[in-house]
Amino acid sequence: MKVICGPASKELAESVSALTGFEKVPVASKVFPDGESYVRLEGNVKGDEVAIVQTTCPPAQDGRLFQLAFMVDAAKRGGATKVTAVVPYLAYARQDKTFLSGEDISVETIARMLQAAGVDELLTVNIHSELSLKQFPFPARTVSAIPLIADYFVKKGYKGAFALSPDKGAMYIAVQAQHVLGGGAGHLEKHRDRYTGQTVQMAEGLNVRDQTVVIFDDIISTGGTIVGAAKILLEQGAKHVFCGCVHGLLIGDAEKRILDAGVEEIVGTDSVPGSVSKVSLAPLLSQELRAQK
Ligand code: R5P
Repeated sequence: MKVICGPASKELAESVSALTGFEKVPVASKVFPDGESYVRLEGNVKGDEVAIVQTTCPPAQDGRLFQLAFMVDAAKRGGATKVTAVVPYLAYARQDKTFLSGEDISVETIARMLQAAGVDELLTVNIHSELSLKQFPFPARTVSAIPLIADYFVKKGYKGAFALSPDKGAMYIAVQAQHVLGGGAGHLEKHRDRYTGQTVQMAEGLNVRDQTVVIFDDIISTGGTIVGAAKILLEQGAKHVFCGCVHGLLIGDAEKRILDAGVEEIVGTDSVPGSVSKVSLAPLLSQELRAQK
């Protein structure tokens, strides 16, 4: 297998190549003056299975999706026998059903677009809804980075911290973290108004007085969910509040708002390269690709 280093995940792809020993294929990329994307594989893939590592997080997630599709097509034209798209953050995955009449199911449209480009298989990380992968027109799987993030907190000395998910749907995340942290797990309740996007959060039967709590979520976007959760935990008397997320999009001033709310540290992964991407997905992705070979 060869690892194609997508422009949005160059460092991560290079780490995967180093860990697996799979040869890396660099990619030249540019954006034309009119905003259109250009990519060129700088290596031979004839007769090879390839893994294209390319996250599709903001900013410019649409451009990154197009870069991915173009790399897939280039690989197939270059004679690659199988293309696995390794997309740590899959854009549009949160629109996985029609919430209101007249809406599309964006994640399914993206999947069909990738199939048309030539993707044979997809590997992603903590997709918002694992169920959505069942509708993909090719084998698609998601792996969880939560144990790696929880391990980061163990290494910082927080073994025994309580793992909290900000809503019931993400309770599985808190449970995965609790297996590493060992300090119990729980969740808040969160309700979202589908028209305004406003959310209401509340704690039912939770007691975190004097505890160290790590809030775990798949995505931080505006930060509103974590700010609301931190407020509840601190009002309840939590001693320390941290936050671990897989995809730290941190739109606008989200990072500052979360820290201002009393969260002592935000820890994310390199699915979204940036100031909080302190945990690399390279070991997890390498293990998956090695198993696939
Ligand atoms: C939603 O269900 C997700 O798991 C996250 O909780 C959500 O996307 C976070 O968004 P925000 O940071 O804007 O509150």
